[in-house]
Amino acid sequence: MSGLIIFIAYLLGSIPTGYIAVKAIKGIDIREIGSGSTGATNVLRTLGKGSGAFVLGIDCLKGLLAIYCTYAWFHFALNNNLLPINVDIQLWQQWLVNTSGVAAILGHSKSLFLGFTGGKSVATSLGILLAINWQVALATIGVFILILAIFRIVSLSSICSAITVPLAMVSIHQPLAYIVFSVIGGLYVIWRHKSNIQRLLLGTEAKLGQVVRIET
Ligand code: G3P
Repeated sequence: MSGLIIFIAYLLGSIPTGYIAVKAIKGIDIREIGSGSTGATNVLRTLGKGSGAFVLGIDCLKGLLAIYCTYAWFHFALNNNLLPINVDIQLWQQWLVNTSGVAAILGHSKSLFLGFTGGKSVATSLGILLAINWQVALATIGVFILILAIFRIVSLSSICSAITVPLAMVSIHQPLAYIVFSVIGGLYVIWRHKSNIQRLLLGTEAKLGQVVRIET
């Protein structure tokens, strides 16, 4: 049964908000514009601030919901004696949250509804973090805003945020399952930014407001 909640988390992550928004408003496939990502940054470039903020909010909500569904399932299972016997209940919940979180992150970037394409999982990861530990989420948002204010490059802010999460988790002594989640999620988000990293190294990564060509 826990497999079902993990699949639901993946499905929630898979909801292609950015794709739907751009298709509905402009009639085009966002994967053929700008960076080719379905995430909020590419929606911002394509449709403007309002739509970018909307997609950011919904993508964040997908992660939050995935974890709250997992909490709900866990409490239901606990109250109805559906959990395996002789397990540490707290550890079970933490590792279930870990797995659902990874599933939601994967869903956003490898969406079932978009032939396993999608975004870079930054907003969805933030939603998951908000549900797991809001202090770590706030610290991560702080780093994101600071780097964005200095360099005006969203991808650089995302990469720095991805590095911040495990460090923040460790520094406030979070459970191992959440630290492992933050390492896996952080590395995955950085890996999703590999083309951005190449451009950052070449000094050609676009700043906020600059035109971007499709990624190859
Ligand atoms: O959240 C994604 C952002 O970090 C980079 O997006 O479209 O510039 O590759 P993009």
